[in-house]
Parts: sequence; C-alpha cells; structure tokens
Amino acid sequence: MAETNRQWRLRKRPVGMLQESDFELVNQPIPQPDQGQVLVRTRFLSMEPAMRRWLDDVPNYMPPVEIGAVMRGTSVAEVVASRLDGYSPGDRVTGMTGWQEYALGDAGLRKLPDGTDPTLALSLLGVTGITAYFGLLEIGQPKEGDTVVVSGAAGATGSVVGQIARIKGCRAIGIAGGAKKCAWLTEKAGFDAAIDYKSEDVGERLSDLCPDGIDVFFDNVGGDILDEALARISRGARVVICGSISRSNLEGKPPGPANYYNLVAQRGRMQGFVVLDFLGRAGEAIADLSRWAGEGRLVWEVDVQKGFENAPKTLLRLYSGANFGKQLLEL
Ligand SMILES: NC(=O)c1ccc[n+]([C@@H]2O[C@H](COP(=O)([O-])OP(=O)(O)OC[C@H]3O[C@@H](n4cnc5c(N)ncnc54)[C@H](OP(=O)(O)O)[C@@H]3O)[C@@H](O)[C@H]2O)c1
Repeated sequence: MAETNRQWRLRKRPVGMLQESDFELVNQPIPQPDQGQVLVRTRFLSMEPAMRRWLDDVPNYMPPVEIGAVMRGTSVAEVVASRLDGYSPGDRVTGMTGWQEYALGDAGLRKLPDGTDPTLALSLLGVTGITAYFGLLEIGQPKEGDTVVVSGAAGATGSVVGQIARIKGCRAIGIAGGAKKCAWLTEKAGFDAAIDYKSEDVGERLSDLCPDGIDVFFDNVGGDILDEALARISRGARVVICGSISRSNLEGKPPGPANYYNLVAQRGRMQGFVVLDFLGRAGEAIADLSRWAGEGRLVWEVDVQKGFENAPKTLLRLYSGANFGKQLLEL
C-alpha cells in the first residue's frame, strides 16, 4: 500500500475555460477508518461535464466545491480496511469519494455485486444510463412514431438516449461533432440519421430530416443547437434540458435561447431535470438497460484514460470532444 494519499484539490475558481492549473496535486497521510467507516482505494474515476459548473460559486443543485477542497467525483473503489458491518476488504463499492487515491466512506457507499465490470457500473448501468433513461422516458415522454432529436448524441448520455428512443419505436436523429462520431451513430448505434454540427448547417439539416417538426428534443449542449431545435419543434413538443456543455466554459453572461417563443406557438414544454431525483428508482432503469444490452439492442463505448496525475487533463477532454464514449480515468 502506498504511504501517502494523493489528492487533487481546487486551487482557484476557474474563469472561462477550465485550466489544469485550477487544480493542485497534494500529498496527505492515508486516513484510518473510525467505527462505522471503511477506507477505500480508488480504482476508476468518472468524469462528468457538470464538474465545471460545480466549481463556480453560483446556485446549483449541489453546493460549489470549496477552494482547497478535494475535487468532488464519483468512483468505483475497493475496500482496503473496514470497521463497517457488511463491508470487507476486497469489496468493490461506488460513491462520491472524490479525486483522491484513498478515501473514507460509510454505508452511503453502494456495494457492487461480485464480478461487476467497473466501467459498466460507471457508464451504461450508472448515473449516465440512469440519466438517459429517466430524462427521455419521464421528461421527454416519447410516443411511438415520434421524431426524437438528441444533441451531444455520440456522448455517453446522448448515445443511450437515441437508442432508447429507437427501442420505443421513435425515429432518432443525433447531432454530434465530426464524421467519425456521426458514422458511429448511424452504423453502430442504429440512429436513423446524424448531423455533424462542425461541418454542416444544423438548421438546414433539421428542416430536411424533420419535415413535421421535432417531437422530443433531448439537449445536452445548449446554445445555437438548442436554438435551431426550438425553431423546429412540433405541436406539443417536449424539450428536455439535460445539460448545456457549450456554455460550461463561457466567461460572463451566456446568450439565452432566441427561439423560445416557439414554445408558445407550438404549445411546447421545456423542462430541466437532475438525475439525483431519480436515483431512488435506479433499479427500474438498470433492469431495462441490462436487458436491452443483453439482447444486443444497446451499444456503448467507454473511453478509459490512465493515471491519477492525469485527472484534470482527462476532465478537459469532455469540453473539446476528445472523448469517445463515457470518460473514465483508471488509477
Ligand atoms: N441533468 C442531469 O442530471 C445530468 C446527468 C448527467 C449528465 N448530464 C449532462 O449530460 C450531458 C452529457 O454528459 P456525458 O457525461 O454523457 O458527456 P459526453 O456527452 O460523453 O461528453 C461530452 C460531449 O459534449 C460535446 N461537446 C463538448 N463541448 C461542446 C460544444 N461546445 N458544443 C457542442 N458539443 C460539445 C462533445 O461531443 P462532440 O464531439 O460531439 O462535440 C463531448 O464529447 C452534459 O451536458 C451533462 O452535463 C446531465
């Protein structure tokens, strides 16, 4: 066992584009568990686009990460010492243990069944898959025959959304950056069409592909892409606001959607959601997602980078689109 616990802490609040230098790597002694606690060793860290906004001192669904605090993050970790009933050395757990090699935890850490693939537990069968499932089915309420458009479509969440839409009998159209990601969407993930927002006119392509309008728009991106979709919604459309990654690293006040008035004309609804509100029902999502994956109806990708020292660099991959699939870091 190593003698020290390396931690990534927030050094200062980022301004505009997140920088590696907004974090600092520090060495701390490895803590010892008290009664009712476990000591765990981090194996995989999950990178989330939302992490950028957790660093801003603004109202959010969770308090901001404090300056000097260990960066917040979800992991799959292994129990190395236990003073907690039901948890033994060697058990695999998942929870918010942060960007550190060792962490103390309690019964809030969820034990993973023996043999669970940790990359699966942090992607399709973790928060990502649960977000896609409830965001589309509960907030988007797709009906058979609907046209569902997804932004950030080749990403971890978006790719699952489009595939669930297909399973539910909808047409799925994905918007993603670059020919490689768009080809993956139509050739591997079964989307009906893909739009490369980096080389195509998104508005023109949406008009061509959705002559009767967009029934469900699942938005991971915000900005101009949201605007183009709002201009083309159908009567009674549902616009699901899952994320807005195009705005994450903007400095100052971001522009609002210009075309929101179309929600009035089309009697549409635009609604945000936070996956945390659905975690009590995670079992429903996991059961369906596992079954569909087992039947070969769902594909997914994980992008595993290595080395704890690369945590900030790995997070940054999300904002340039360098990731292909769920972004993880293996320690
Ligand atoms: N509401 C919730 O509870 C909840 C929970 C989890 C995730 N989310 C949201 O879901 C979204 C996807 O998260 P994820 O973990 O699945 O990440 P992801 O989609 O696997 O990765 C992020 C992707 O965003 C795209 N992107 C980055 N900057 C962009 C820009 N300026 N314009 C357009 N696209 C850009 C990139 O794809 P391209 O190469 O295609 O540009 C990148 O690969 C995020 O917005 C996240 O905040 C919400």
